[in-house]
Amino acid sequence: MRAVLKIGGSLLYDDDGQVRIDRLREYAESIKSLVKDGHSLVVVVGGGKPARIFINAARELGANEAQCDWLGIKLARNNAELLCAALGDYAYPKIIDDYDELEVAVNLSKVVLMGGMVPGQSTNAVAAASAELIHADMLFNATNVDGVYDRNPEEKGAKKLDSVDVSKLREILSSEGTKAGQYNLFDPVAIGIVERSHIPTVIFNGNNTKNLEKAFNKEKIGTQIMHNTK
Ligand code: UTP
Repeated sequence: MRAVLKIGGSLLYDDDGQVRIDRLREYAESIKSLVKDGHSLVVVVGGGKPARIFINAARELGANEAQCDWLGIKLARNNAELLCAALGDYAYPKIIDDYDELEVAVNLSKVVLMGGMVPGQSTNAVAAASAELIHADMLFNATNVDGVYDRNPEEKGAKKLDSVDVSKLREILSSEGTKAGQYNLFDPVAIGIVERSHIPTVIFNGNNTKNLEKAFNKEKIGTQIMHNTK
């Protein structure tokens, strides 16, 4: 299948802010084996800890939100460079920063890597827009929680949903921040794109890289975003 995979930047750094080299290698190996199985992938990598550190410092120094977003965009691209290094010849060697180039690169039988694109959104919106543009069969979102919960997962009694209608997802996530570095699971731009094009989307825990293979094999995992179930 043709798929877009978003890898949350938080998965790639440990609590001390060090790069999880093993995690990057594991992702690279899983991606290579999916390519060998005939799948075609665009991988969007998030900003993670470095993005938050730079955004917070820049904000304190007087940067505005667009400037902070722009820092996050570049740091996400740097993270994509790390995965590009781990993928070697399997990867299209340039991190895509233009959707025209994405359309060309996706047809070259290489794994295409991206980070951020424009201010005012998160890398989930990049993943959703890319999935729409390339007519992806699936959008996979590897994040650091098990899926979408019916309320804040830290609240007592919060329940993970196996599936969620896109309008319900918007409602659940309506309290998410829209400032640089504060987008969480899915930002409003990403939800809007997934909704308008009915993009089949699965959000799952990417701390276990085996979950990626399960998601590709259509095993029940994480939360599936449903369309038009009313
Ligand atoms: P993300 O918030 O998407 O990174 O991008 P992340 O670490 O993967 O987030 P999780 O793990 O999914 O929670 C980092 C920051 O870069 C800016 C935003 O400020 C965002 O918070 N950004 C990213 C943009 O402004 N535009 C983009 O297209 C992408």
